[in-house]
Amino acid sequence: TDPLRLGIAGLGTVGAGIVKIVQTHADLLAARAGRPVVISAVSARSKEKDRGVDLSDYAWENDPVALAYRSDVDVVIEVMGGHDGPAKDTTEAAIAGGKDVVSANKALLAIHGQALAVAAEAAGRVIRFEAAVAGGIPVVKTLTEGLAGNAITRIMGVMNGSCNYILTRMEDAGLTYQEVFDEANALGYLEADPNLDVGGVDAGHKLALLSSIAFGTQVDFDGVALEGIGSVTIEDIRQAADMGYKIKLLGVAQLTGRGLEQRMSPCLVPDTSPLGQLSGGTNMVVLEGDAVGQIVMRGAGAGEGPTASAIMGDVMDIARGSRLSTFGQPASTLRKARAAQAAVP
Ligand code: NAP
Ligand code: HSE
Repeated sequence: TDPLRLGIAGLGTVGAGIVKIVQTHADLLAARAGRPVVISAVSARSKEKDRGVDLSDYAWENDPVALAYRSDVDVVIEVMGGHDGPAKDTTEAAIAGGKDVVSANKALLAIHGQALAVAAEAAGRVIRFEAAVAGGIPVVKTLTEGLAGNAITRIMGVMNGSCNYILTRMEDAGLTYQEVFDEANALGYLEADPNLDVGGVDAGHKLALLSSIAFGTQVDFDGVALEGIGSVTIEDIRQAADMGYKIKLLGVAQLTGRGLEQRMSPCLVPDTSPLGQLSGGTNMVVLEGDAVGQIVMRGAGAGEGPTASAIMGDVMDIARGSRLSTFGQPASTLRKARAAQAAVP
C-alpha cells in the first residue's frame, strides 16, 4: 500500500515532537493505519540548528511554501505559528497544491480558519486542527465524532496553561501577579508576546474554534468578550478562597436567543469542583450535550509530546481515509455566529 507522506513546516517544540513519534512508532502507526506513515520533507529557518532528532533521511526546504508544493508530500503539517506570513502562505499553498493540512496554529485558524476551510473543501482537501485547542486533550474529535448525535448546549474550559500556572502559583505561594508573571516569563512558559497568554487572546482563539465546532457556527474570534488575568490581585484570590472559590481564566460558550455568546474572563469557580481543583499548566474542557449530559476532559494543554500527539491523531485519521473536516460539517454550511457580546461580569 502507498505510504502517507508528510511534509513538516516548522521544527520547533511541536515539529520535533512529531518527528520523534513518527520515528519511534513507525511500526505501530503502519499497523494502525494499514499503510506506512513517513516523513518526506521538512522545513525550518535554520538548517544547522540541532533539534535533537535525526533529519538526515528527509528532504530539506528553506521555504515552507516550496515544501507545500512538493510532489512527494501528501499532508502538510504547519507548526510554525503566526496568524499571517509564512503560516498562512504555506497553508494556502498546500491547499492550492492539492494537499491535506494538519495544523496546531490556533491564531491562524481563529482568524482565517473559516476561509481556509472553505478553500480546502472547494479543492477536495481537509484541514484538521485538533492540536490547536487544548493541546493533547482530544476535545475536537470528541465533539465531532463521539458527540455527533448531541446538540451541544454549553462548553466551558481552562484553555491556557500559562494563565492557570500563574493563578495557581499566586494562590499557593502568596505571590503577586507581577512576581509570578516575571517568574513564568523567565522560565520560558509564556508566548513570545506574553499578552497572547495573560490578555486571554490565546485562550480566546481556542474558545472561538471550539464554539464553531460545537455549535455549527462560523469562527467568530471578534465575538469573544475577552478579559485577561492582569488585573487579578492576591487580595482577590484570598477573598475568593475565604468564600470557598478559586479564580480561573474560564471560557464559556453557549447559544442564546441573541446568538452565540462567548466569554473568556477570570471567573470564580467552587474550589471543590473539577475546574477548581485544576492546578499548574493543565487544561480542562467541560462539554455539555443534550443526550450525554456533562463530560469533563483534563490533560496537558501544551508541550512537545501532548501537542505532537494531537497532530498525529489527525494524521492517522487522514492515513485511514477519513475526509471529515475538523469542524465536523462542511465549513461552507456553518451559520453566521451573530455574536451576542455579553458584558463580562
Ligand atoms: P517554535 O518552537 O517557536 O517553532 C517554530 C518553528 O517554525 C521553528 O522550527 C522555526 O524555525 C520555524 N519557522 C518559523 N518561521 C519560519 C519560516 N518563515 N520558514 C520556515 N520555518 C519557520 O513553536 P512551537 O512551540 O513548536 O509551536 C508551533 C505551533 O504550534 C504554533 O502555532 C503554536 O501556537 C502551536 N502550539 C504550540 C504548543 C506548544 O506547546 N509549543 C501547543 C499548542 C499549539 P527555526 O527553528 O529554524 O527558527
Ligand atoms: N501559551 C499556550 C498555553 C500554549 O499556555 O496554554 C499552548 O497553546
